[in-house]
Formats: sequence, structure tokens, C-alpha cells
Amino acid sequence: QVEFSLRPRFLREYIGQSHAKENLKVFIEAAKQRGESLDHVLLYGPPGLGKTTLSHIIANEMDANIRTTSGPAIERPGDLAAILTNLEANDVLFIDEIHRLNRSVEEVLYPAMEDFALDIIIGKGPSARTVRLDLPPFTLVGATTRAGSLSSPLRDRFGVVSRLEFYTEEELSLILLRTADLLQVGMNPEGAHELATRARGTPRVANRLLKRVRDFVQVEGDGFVSKDAAIGALDRMQVDKMGLDQLDHRFLKSILTHFRGGPVGLETIAATIGEESHTVEDVIEPYLMQLGFLERTPRGRMVTKQCADYLGMKWPKS
Ligand code: ADE
Repeated sequence: QVEFSLRPRFLREYIGQSHAKENLKVFIEAAKQRGESLDHVLLYGPPGLGKTTLSHIIANEMDANIRTTSGPAIERPGDLAAILTNLEANDVLFIDEIHRLNRSVEEVLYPAMEDFALDIIIGKGPSARTVRLDLPPFTLVGATTRAGSLSSPLRDRFGVVSRLEFYTEEELSLILLRTADLLQVGMNPEGAHELATRARGTPRVANRLLKRVRDFVQVEGDGFVSKDAAIGALDRMQVDKMGLDQLDHRFLKSILTHFRGGPVGLETIAATIGEESHTVEDVIEPYLMQLGFLERTPRGRMVTKQCADYLGMKWPKS
């Protein structure tokens, strides 16, 4: 599928996250020189910043296979045991949303991560005993939007912990130009810049906007993404100057009008706008906080004056 080939496959093609990237480069090189598997890696940060992409890159750089699964998909310890016993030496096991693993599954993971061993209980009651199975050395790459909700025994077993940050406009512009190239759509730097400023610091959003802008210029324009073409298409999609969409507006305006700017509890505001609290917390809020539009306080969410000014609304606190 086109979607997948848009992702960079090696570190040298990967734009941004220079901190995580430079470190990973060293750890990968060192492990390869020693002929060992790479230590387990935890990637955390808001959605769309490249956690899945990096896990594939790690596997490619290590010349290894990757097995992909997710926390909610592994329901029972046996599910995980089946995956682990099918790994080959130095393979990467990618577990997305690793904070959603249940306790009994997590406990299978501890010895697997630490000793490359699987403890199996045979029999029931007084005659039950454990048998230890050796596993090939492998690299667990865990991804989560919230490192805080990982249990500490699990978090402590990752040798590399990397926090992904929002991308700068310059990085997003480079990513967009690369994507435009792959999609074979013409775009100038001004068009790329316009998209980059409205992409919420997130490559996934940037690339999605580019695909939709491509639709607009293909059907209603001359097929080229100029600054004006980008502005026209983004306005049609109701993505504003700062990249905020209808959902962001609904969220912020609801706090300002119904809760006097806050503080308001997460569950309350989520119910008010009819979204899941996880969506609010993981998808909507991180970028708004980055912008300085929203604060999380012990008493709940608060919208800042800066945000009210941006939206052209009255600041209820003054
Ligand atoms: N496509 C999506 N994210 C990317 C990145 N960080 N670098 C290059 N291409 C990308």
C-alpha cells in the first residue's frame, strides 16, 4: 500500500527527532558491532510522531524481522507466549499501546525481557510446576502515548527510553516535500510551509493534509500545491491558521462558554463534547498544551487567556 511506502525505512531518511535519532544510531551501531540484539526500547509521546515508523526502522537497521502487535490485542498470557516462541534471534517485537497490556500478560513479559526466558506453569494444584523455556534474544520496542501509565516494573526493563517531541515547521516542511515527491505531486516550498504551519507539529497530520490538498488541486485546481492552493484547501477543510480543527474549537469554546474557562474535569469536558476521555487526553490536548492554549491543573483543565484572545472570545476570568 502507498501509505506504508511513505514511511522512511532507514534512520538516514528519517527527518526530525534528532535527539532520539542520534542516540538510537549509536545504540544500534554498538549492538551490531557486538553481534547482540539491541536493548529494549520504549518510545513515548503523542500520536503520529513516528513511533511505529521508528520501530520498523530499528528492525531494518538491525537487519531483523519485525512482529507487530498491540497491548489490547494480547488478551491472555498464552497469546504472548505464542508470539515470543516464534521469534528469531535479534527480531524486533513491536507492542503498540503497551500501557494497555493486562497484568497477567505483563508478568510473562518480565522474564522474557530480562532473561529471554518463558516460565510456563504445567499442571494444576499441588502438582503444578514451572518449566523454563529459553527464547531467542530479541528487542522489545514498546510504544505508548503515556509513559506515566506504564507500571514501573515494566518501564524499568527498557534499556532505552525515548520521548518523541512535536516537530518544528522546518522539519515538517522537509517531510512534506519528501512526501510530495513520493506522491508525485508538484509543490513549492511556500505551499509546504503553509501546510507545515497547520500540521500540529505532527507528520501524520501533515501528510494527511497534503493528500487532501492534492485532491483539491487535482479536481479544482491546476494540480500544483502553491501557497494559495494550500490556503484554499485548508480553509475548505476548516483547519485554521494554527492547525486547529473543528474538534479543537468545540473543545476550547465549550470550556470557555460552559465552564468559565475552567477548571473542568476531564470526564466532564469529554462528555460535554461527546468524545472519549482518552481521545481528549491523548489526541486533542497535547498540542493545545504545547501551544500554551490549555493547562492541566490538579482541579481540571483550564483554557488560557492567550487562547481566548486567539479565538476572539471573552476571557471569563477578567
Ligand atoms: N514521514 C513521516 N514522518 C517522517 C519523518 N520523520 N521523516 C521522514 N519522512 C516521514
